[in-house]
Amino acid sequence: MTLDLKQHLAAQAGRVETCLEQLLNDVALQEEIVRPPRLLAAMRHGALNGGKRLRPILVLEAANLFGHADNGALKAACALELIHCYSLVHDDLPAMDDDDLRRGQPTVHKAYDEATAILAGDALLTLAFDVIAEDTVHADPSVRLRLSRELSRAAGVGGMAGGQMLDLESEHRERSEAEIRRLQSMKTGALLRYACRSGAILADAGDADVDRLTRFGEVIGLAFQLADDLLDVESTPEAMGKATGKDAEAGKATLVGLMGVEKTRAELALLLSEAEDLLAPYGERAKVLTALAGYIVNRSN
Ligand code: IPE
Ligand code: IPE
Ligand code: MG
Ligand code: MG
Ligand code: MG
Repeated sequence: MTLDLKQHLAAQAGRVETCLEQLLNDVALQEEIVRPPRLLAAMRHGALNGGKRLRPILVLEAANLFGHADNGALKAACALELIHCYSLVHDDLPAMDDDDLRRGQPTVHKAYDEATAILAGDALLTLAFDVIAEDTVHADPSVRLRLSRELSRAAGVGGMAGGQMLDLESEHRERSEAEIRRLQSMKTGALLRYACRSGAILADAGDADVDRLTRFGEVIGLAFQLADDLLDVESTPEAMGKATGKDAEAGKATLVGLMGVEKTRAELALLLSEAEDLLAPYGERAKVLTALAGYIVNRSN
């Protein structure tokens, strides 16, 4: 990745950080009564602790691809990141993956307590739907409504949360390759798919372009989870900022476990070329998204 591109992505992450910081301030909004300091602090710990901001950056860059660069996209991007952060707070709970380390820091239930972590997740999730419904997200209320509905479906029973259920059920159990692919397309894929698709929708792209970006999101979503599972096998807690070796320890069925490291790498290379082909019609305009796909495949944390 060129220096320019790195700087651009760092600047985008900075915009996301600033917006999240502002959304999680201690001033109660209209219709809110008070923001309890302990809950707010736990939410801030879960959301402002140095994530890569990949999903919101994908929203911004997918919108940019169609010439849309206003602050409405930033709000929509942050709504998605709030959901991602909530999913991590809950994923780390003792009842789920029971992890102590996230983004190089104690997990929320370690820094606070379990009940507070559950509530922090609940409140991050709920706040996301407040943010996506904001007037500034898009001038047309029907677009805001569409994005809310699609965000709900990506995050909910038939999306991320459903995928987490299938993931937990696959501990110490045989799973076919097709079953694992489906659960991954839900637990991780759904939010990444939504990221790319919602950027195109925000930018009022036509149906063919929305479909193309949706497919791009599906391809990089699968690549993202394959890379995560590979890193779980091959990386270290220091590099990842979270525990590694967890999937094997939990007896979790993953594609890396099923196909082995070599086949997984080969599939990642194929997915990257598919992602590049999908963006080819946009030429130079897609250079940031193309670089992001490469980053997802080759990432080291
Ligand atoms: C980690 O996601 C959880 C998975 C879905 C595998 P990221 O690797 O994007 O985590 P952060 O947000 O950068 O910490
Ligand atoms: C988590 O998957 C996916 C979601 C939070 C939806 P993992 O359990 O593999 O994520 P890590 O490895 O803890 O980040
Ligand atoms: Mg998990
Ligand atoms: Mg986990
Ligand atoms: Mg993992």
